Amino acid sequence: MIKNISAIEVFDSRGEPTVEAKIETEAGEFRAIVPSGASTGKHEAVELRDNEKAYFGKGVGKAVTNINLEISKMLVGKDETNQRELDQLMIDLDGTENKSRLGANAILAVSMALARAGAGSKGIPLYAYIGELAKNKRMNLPCPALNIINGGMHAANELDIQEYMILPVGAKSFKEAMRIASEIYHMLKRIIEQRYGKNATNVGDEGGFAPPLKNPEEPLRLIMKALDKTGYLDKVKIGLDIAASEFYCDGKYNFQSKELEKEELFNFYKSIIEKYPILSIEDPFEEDDFEGFSEMTRKTKGIQIVGDDLLVTNIERIKKAITMKSCNTLLLKLNQIGTVSESIEAANIAFSAGWNVMVSHRSGDSEDSFIADFAVGIGAQEIKSGAPCRSERLAKYNQLIRIENEEEKNKGKIKFYSL
Ligand code: PGA
Ligand code: ZN
Repeated sequence: MIKNISAIEVFDSRGEPTVEAKIETEAGEFRAIVPSGASTGKHEAVELRDNEKAYFGKGVGKAVTNINLEISKMLVGKDETNQRELDQLMIDLDGTENKSRLGANAILAVSMALARAGAGSKGIPLYAYIGELAKNKRMNLPCPALNIINGGMHAANELDIQEYMILPVGAKSFKEAMRIASEIYHMLKRIIEQRYGKNATNVGDEGGFAPPLKNPEEPLRLIMKALDKTGYLDKVKIGLDIAASEFYCDGKYNFQSKELEKEELFNFYKSIIEKYPILSIEDPFEEDDFEGFSEMTRKTKGIQIVGDDLLVTNIERIKKAITMKSCNTLLLKLNQIGTVSESIEAANIAFSAGWNVMVSHRSGDSEDSFIADFAVGIGAQEIKSGAPCRSERLAKYNQLIRIENEEEKNKGKIKFYSL
């Protein structure tokens, strides 16, 4: 039974305030911290900010108060293992389409802490509990997509493409995937330093390097060199998050200081797909262009087209994208939708359409490793949590290493997913 629910304002990896919820039950105390995006989709659930003097408007005092008063009053005394029912109670209590009254940050913090409390009261690991909630019989360790060069909203450089990721698809285990990624990351650092000097090795919000480059192909060339020098060319594929909404304006894409038509941008994608081992492209066009995404998916066979800002983990938008064949992979961010139950439902709908699911961190994240267990529990094929650098990024990868280690020790069934 839930004895108490409370919340405090803590800080995310960018030093901005965010919400931490705490739930007390007979089994102990369970906490969760919500992350926060920078290149947010306009259809995401609402992150409630105070818009007052403190923290230049970014305080989350109201969201904290909503937990301490309204949410706590409603949920104290209830059974913490009724995740779905309690998530629904919070959705109803909020009463808006986009969780703007109580704040998706308030609701999600409690929802995540509830899942931990539920796992705690059953005495099972969080990933196993998520697996039960998802009714998932096939858990696995996801393949990591590590963002090793940062651009867009996540870096103070002029790269329009937001994320250049490596996916160690040839690894046999999660641990091996991380070793490959770490070696490439450190080799890339040397290459960038030799070519552009020490200053160019500073990192962006997600721990990837943020060299002062402009040409969108140069990061691909640098990564290829790092793959070559580490001997991993046959084990690693490349993923991109274009985050195209961020440079879209009035029907045109402001890319590389030029105003591009959609077709021109598509031709650029086609040219890099031909030259580099690209496996995955996220948000190639602006966030309402379901048609453009369909065309992209149709014309780039074998490439993973990932919907992030397009889908915002929203069940209605995912269904529309399935009908229109707009993509073949769901980027899943819990705070885009605001409860654990709805996130599980979103994943299950994507799986049943034959899509892959890539669970994702946010650019403003924290030491909370919830998404690692979540990804294993739902059986996500992939997870993106930034570079193998900075502890808010490694918190997730380290948790996956722990889960894999325990599974190996106990001769469990959960294995690394080979993409
Ligand atoms: P965000 O970026 O967390 O800043 O929204 C991540 C992404 O676009 O995938
Ligand atoms: Zn994205």
